[in-house]
Amino acid sequence: MTEAVLPPPATVAIRPLVAGNWKMNGAKQGLEEALAIRDALAVNVVAADVMICPPATLLMVMAEILAAEAENATLQLGGQDCHVAMAGAHTGDVSAEMLQDAGATAVIVGHSERRVDHAETDGMVRSKAAAAHRAGLAAIVCVGETAGERRAGLTLAIVGRQLAGSLPDGAKAANTVVAYEPVWAIGTGLTPTPTDVAEVHAFIRQALAARYGGEGTQMRILYGGSVKPENARQLMAVANVNGALVGGASLKAKDFLGVVAAYAI
Ligand code: PGA
Repeated sequence: MTEAVLPPPATVAIRPLVAGNWKMNGAKQGLEEALAIRDALAVNVVAADVMICPPATLLMVMAEILAAEAENATLQLGGQDCHVAMAGAHTGDVSAEMLQDAGATAVIVGHSERRVDHAETDGMVRSKAAAAHRAGLAAIVCVGETAGERRAGLTLAIVGRQLAGSLPDGAKAANTVVAYEPVWAIGTGLTPTPTDVAEVHAFIRQALAARYGGEGTQMRILYGGSVKPENARQLMAVANVNGALVGGASLKAKDFLGVVAAYAI
């Protein structure tokens, strides 16, 4: 009897994600920008998921406005951080469940600004990612080296340590996104070369595949750090770059749509 030879598994194309991180920016007029983005996406279909992560104060009203005015809302919403607990005596914090209740489908965890401003460790980030999963949210887990670490040749060591420590066991492609954001590229107008981005993203892909198997081969790996309409196409074309995490250029619909246009079809 001849042994059945199974065909190699079909490579499922990874649907990219372009997520806008508004950080601590945006008041009520930001709702106009979100609507403008949503309306543009209704006309110009792109081959990517598109998300805005506004400050928590805007999340619920933004979700209501986007849902009320659209038959099939294409703009997703995310939070920028969450507490590890579901609820309780944690003044000023917001839980993953609260974000989900407000209309988010994802939450950014471990952004370098939180790692620095709030002394968040890899372990804390891992707990937050697990909290996101508990609440049914995708966790967008940020990693990235500082300028000094890059100069010292430590980029892959740092990113590897952050990945190992910040991602929870059992993460799936559907609920986990990794964002590679070199700290020195955030808000500076500087970006790594496509070759440098390719090196780090290939390294991340390898680490995800080694730890999560098939799920790891399908997880989205975003690049973040000074992504603009002018450089988006080039950066998004790099192997293993499955979208972008966009800060400054996500605040204005025109700029953000210019980045999203990298995935125009
Ligand atoms: P930037 O920020 O696009 O303004 O550099 C990116 C980020 O911090 O997510």
